[in-house]
Amino acid sequence: MEFQELLTHRQSVRSYNDVPVTPEEIQVLLQAANAAPIGRSLYQNVHLSVVTNKPLLQQISSIAGEAFGDPAMDPFYGASTLIIASCVEEAASTVGLANSACMVENMHLAATNIGLASVYLYGFIHTIAKKADIVRSLGIPKGFAPVAALAVGHTDQELSPRPLTTDKIQVSFVH
Ligand SMILES: Cc1cc2nc3c(=O)[nH]c(=O)nc-3n(C[C@H](O)[C@H](O)[C@H](O)COP(=O)(O)O)c2cc1C
Repeated sequence: MEFQELLTHRQSVRSYNDVPVTPEEIQVLLQAANAAPIGRSLYQNVHLSVVTNKPLLQQISSIAGEAFGDPAMDPFYGASTLIIASCVEEAASTVGLANSACMVENMHLAATNIGLASVYLYGFIHTIAKKADIVRSLGIPKGFAPVAALAVGHTDQELSPRPLTTDKIQVSFVH
């Protein structure tokens, strides 16, 4: 897709069916993450977990649901795949968080480009960051903390492109 057109198609999707994401599609998303800008090129300070294990997804979902006081809540909206971005703990609220945002946004756009639905997730991350057993089962290296995620999959929802605008974000032009 041409880039401006891709931007009209990118949107947060919060309803997924069971159709799995293929290994080839995962590779496209990982290439996009690897193409993201990373502060001082410190790629060794970031990490991705690609999670398709249903029982683990359900476990994470119910931990988040409990933390939010709504056990029925599913923070990934039924998506078949969750990609969790982690970074070194000491940078989890600074450059590591920014790096992770770049990786997740690149994957969000790449997903859109190949016809996958996705949504950037942040709200539930802190509920799992505190659970050492979950962090371990996600393959997150010691000394790293999860800071952002992308839910990705297929949707039955009708998705329409949205016109590009310049009126959502305030701008100061400084001449
Ligand atoms: C840093 C960040 C955190 C977000 N966290 C969540 C989240 O936890 N759950 C969710 O459903 N959407 C989340 N979103 C998606 C936003 O709600 C969404 O991008 C925004 O409402 C604009 O909608 P659009 O993406 O369809 O343009 C997040 C987006 C960003 C950039």
